[in-house]
Amino acid sequence: MTYAIIGFGEIGQTLAKTFARKGIAVSVATTRDPESFASTAVAIGPGITPTTLAEAVEADVVFLAVRFQSHPDVAKVLPDWQGKIIVDVTNAYGVSAKDMGGRPSAKIVADAFAGGRVVKGFNHLVAAVLDQDPAVQGGRRVVFLSSDDDDAAAQVGALAEDLGFAPIQLGGLSEGGLLVQAHDKNWGRLIFKDLVRFDR
Ligand SMILES: NC(=O)c1ccc[n+]([C@@H]2O[C@H](COP(=O)([O-])OP(=O)(O)OC[C@H]3O[C@@H](n4cnc5c(N)ncnc54)[C@H](OP(=O)(O)O)[C@@H]3O)[C@@H](O)[C@H]2O)c1
Repeated sequence: MTYAIIGFGEIGQTLAKTFARKGIAVSVATTRDPESFASTAVAIGPGITPTTLAEAVEADVVFLAVRFQSHPDVAKVLPDWQGKIIVDVTNAYGVSAKDMGGRPSAKIVADAFAGGRVVKGFNHLVAAVLDQDPAVQGGRRVVFLSSDDDDAAAQVGALAEDLGFAPIQLGGLSEGGLLVQAHDKNWGRLIFKDLVRFDR
């Protein structure tokens, strides 16, 4: 399984650190020449590979860590996402329900990534919290996952476990997704809820 993070700003770099912490290789890309952010990637860890957008979309699992408004630009890099998994880390904060057409934000992302399998997740915590070691007092920090594709949700769940988190599956994008997204300038009920799961 190969991984890429598209968007190497605050949350993209934080996600890269979670991969580096567990020694799992991941490519990172933005609109810029990879040389321009190579030193930042190298500083995070040896398994973090700066690359072009065209190369990043070759990965089996692509984390979408750009502003919600930029998702169509990423989606059009490939005409068909051919079963690839897209982890939607975006929060459409400030986008009105009218502009959303009354739809969950992850459904809009899923429509844009034709042929792809979207899992919404890793988006409910601020970067400064996600940045911390997910092992907390004998438990593991929770990440919420939602998808209309059970297999994709399970695969991202397994990755979340490998990264040291405790995944909680919330169901489909129209059910779970709504709990972990922005609603114009309000937040879904599970956003910012920093939970730790203890498996006994
Ligand atoms: N920051 C947080 O604490 C946090 C937490 C949870 C979720 N989120 C969500 O995560 C997303 C990113 O937030 P952020 O705070 O990390 O934003 P940011 O710091 O502004 O970073 C955005 C990144 O996306 C890249 N980018 C923009 N357009 C792109 C495109 N078309 N193709 C590839 N890369 C592109 C930018 O690089 P270039 O412009 O140089 O190409 C930059 O690296 C947002 O949707 C936000 O709501 C953020």
